[in-house]
Amino acid sequence: ASGVSLVKAGVLTTCTHLPYAPFQAKDETGKVVGFDVALIDLVAAKLGVKQEIVDTPFEGIKSGSDLNAGKCDVAAAGMTITDERKQVLDFSAPYFDATQALAVLTGSQVKTLEELKGKRLGVQGGTTGEDYIKTQVKDKSLDIEVVSYKDLAALQQALATNQIAAAVNDLPVWNEYIRANPAKIVVAAGFDTGEQYGFAVKKGNAALLKTVDEALAAARSDGTYDKIYTNWIGE
Ligand code: ARG
Repeated sequence: ASGVSLVKAGVLTTCTHLPYAPFQAKDETGKVVGFDVALIDLVAAKLGVKQEIVDTPFEGIKSGSDLNAGKCDVAAAGMTITDERKQVLDFSAPYFDATQALAVLTGSQVKTLEELKGKRLGVQGGTTGEDYIKTQVKDKSLDIEVVSYKDLAALQQALATNQIAAAVNDLPVWNEYIRANPAKIVVAAGFDTGEQYGFAVKKGNAALLKTVDEALAAARSDGTYDKIYTNWIGE
């Protein structure tokens, strides 16, 4: 059966929120590339179509509104599978394991959330990192000013320019930043949140979800997943 009937118009449209390297970000030529992009390219190939990326705020992705409104066929945004998101989206099998991490400028002495007393801590709006930090601050009655940024670039810029004392986001994203900007920041602490990323489709789009899962499973068994992992994440 032709896969083209599974997607709108001969293209597989992918909603994501840029930048989120190494999962999705523009290269020097302006092309969106990354770990997620490479995996969804396999889905597009299986369907016999091309992938087209739609850059849109994370809020609309994780809330289900973009997919359920037909803005995209699939979401690939380094998105953690959560019970709340499962109410509004259907997720693929997990394709990546992640945890949260606290990044500080090189030279900062901060190693724990407690040491951020009276300081500003940056997070990315709408993310699991924001949820985790807000819960920690509340549960432990921490005296920290949590500042939410609209995207990863704004968060990283705030940290690099000392607007905030530390920033929380997914560990692989900090590792990539350090790779691209050696010696600027360090990971001061990790929080073992045990997250798993999933691709998402509109609730009820079982046919497309099956194709995504089959493409993922094939990539895992034929070594393609490992190649993509090594290429974008490292050893
Ligand atoms: N993994 C985190 C979450 O699901 C952050 C994802 C942010 N992704 C992005 N493309 N901006 O909340």
